[in-house]
Amino acid sequence: MEPTPENWAAADRWLSEALVGHDPALEEGLAAQQAAGLPAIEVAPLAGKMLHLLTRISGARRVLEIGTLGGYSTTWLARALPDDGRVVTIEAEPANAEVARSNLARAGVAERVEIRTGRGAEVLPTLEGPFDLVFIDADKESNTTYLDWAARLGRPGTVVVLDNIGRDGEIVRDDSEDPKVRGTRDALEMLGSDPRFDATALQTVGVKGWDGVAIAVIRASAVPRGTSS
Ligand code: DHB
Ligand code: MG
Repeated sequence: MEPTPENWAAADRWLSEALVGHDPALEEGLAAQQAAGLPAIEVAPLAGKMLHLLTRISGARRVLEIGTLGGYSTTWLARALPDDGRVVTIEAEPANAEVARSNLARAGVAERVEIRTGRGAEVLPTLEGPFDLVFIDADKESNTTYLDWAARLGRPGTVVVLDNIGRDGEIVRDDSEDPKVRGTRDALEMLGSDPRFDATALQTVGVKGWDGVAIAVIRASAVPRGTSS
């Protein structure tokens, strides 16, 4: 097989069939999202399940999501929580929040999710931590602001996941004028240099093209990268 977009998307679909399967509530939610005219930029099924597993593996009870869109990743996160767990999810577009509200109800997780409508920079200062896991998947220009809030609203051991770190390889371009690339590069440099984080990144190819996620943990204190904290 050649490593072409067609072939890696086919492999992604096969892996999704093998490992994720089908969920009527999630799939109807995506159809409703499309019918409402929202962009199809939700996480891929395998990535949704990765968020779900990271939430379970970390034993998270309070999750913060920045960027709800139609509630697809929100559903994966909410389903990983115990009955008394909560996802607080921030969405700037009221119309998106309405789609998400209906999708979360269809998936049976509405009671575990609090949607806060507004821009991240306005909503985040009103929240009270600590959150055990933070998923950042909103306007890329604000990624460093969101990372700063993740650190402030987290605690030592909080897991931070940042979506869309590859951007078709554009991430290497230090002369990029694309604000999404700049915002993502700045965030990755922050994850590598800010002593509050210890981070890595995984490039992905699949149904969403060539992209990836960064995964970080909030440190107990400022110690050299890669050593225990
Ligand atoms: C875009 C945003 C996303 O969160 C994503 O997963 C893919 C693309 C975008 O704004 O281009
Ligand atoms: Mg994304």
